[in-house]
Amino acid sequence: MYKPTITWDENQTPVSTYFDDVYFNTEGAIEETRYVFVEGNDLRQRFLNHKQDTFIVGETGFGSGLNFLILWETFLHFRSQYPNHRLKHLAFFSVEKYPLSLNELIKIHNSVLFKNKKLLSLSKRLQAFLIDSTSQFGDVSLKICNDDISNFSDFLIKQNVLIDAWFFDGFSPAKNPDMWSERLFKNCFSLTASGGSFATFTAAGFVRRHLINAGFIVQKRKGFGSKREMLVGYK
Ligand SMILES: C[S@@+](CC[C@H](N)C(=O)[O-])C[C@H]1O[C@@H](n2cnc3c(N)ncnc32)[C@H](O)[C@@H]1O
Repeated sequence: MYKPTITWDENQTPVSTYFDDVYFNTEGAIEETRYVFVEGNDLRQRFLNHKQDTFIVGETGFGSGLNFLILWETFLHFRSQYPNHRLKHLAFFSVEKYPLSLNELIKIHNSVLFKNKKLLSLSKRLQAFLIDSTSQFGDVSLKICNDDISNFSDFLIKQNVLIDAWFFDGFSPAKNPDMWSERLFKNCFSLTASGGSFATFTAAGFVRRHLINAGFIVQKRKGFGSKREMLVGYK
């Protein structure tokens, strides 16, 4: 029988039926994503300093694709500011074991992005891609591993890529420890380009220790809004 992937709570925030946790806070979701993942990985500066023609991002937990859309917008902005820069392509790799139905995804996009025309138009292109993955995004590519997180590193090895920036985004560590294991971060570390970075919204003690044990240099940063702390780091 069909089981919905999300329900909507009283604040109109999408909640996972598998993990009883929010995908993000609908209020300020765009700003939070920019703060945690784009600024947390210092991406505007990293794009400028990048020496190859492609910048590669890895994400744990594709969800609604909101992180992808915001990163895509950030990259397009960079390309319009620096059309002659050597960095011309963005490649995004993510993993998702519990994909949203297209209707769930559209409802999330409309509820979060309704004030932002640019992001809404990118969301329509993402929706078309999810129906027919032969549709393209020009200089931006998206590949989703529809499998358990434990198979993500094998998937990336087959893609023959090293990640320049990680978005660790797999629900609350207390509710979903599989997305925050030391084994996962060790695999991620070995698949990280030299000088590559990560950012995550959480500052949970065991996540921090696992990241350090995996080899990352880890720093705490002020979290978004009222959140006390988050983690960033690099190889
Ligand atoms: C906080 S949400 C991600 C939000 C997403 N980045 C976005 O932009 O909407 C966490 C995601 O991790 C996925 N997930 C949870 N456990 C997983 C597992 N064991 N393997 C793969 N994906 C998993 C969930 O289905 C969910 O979509």
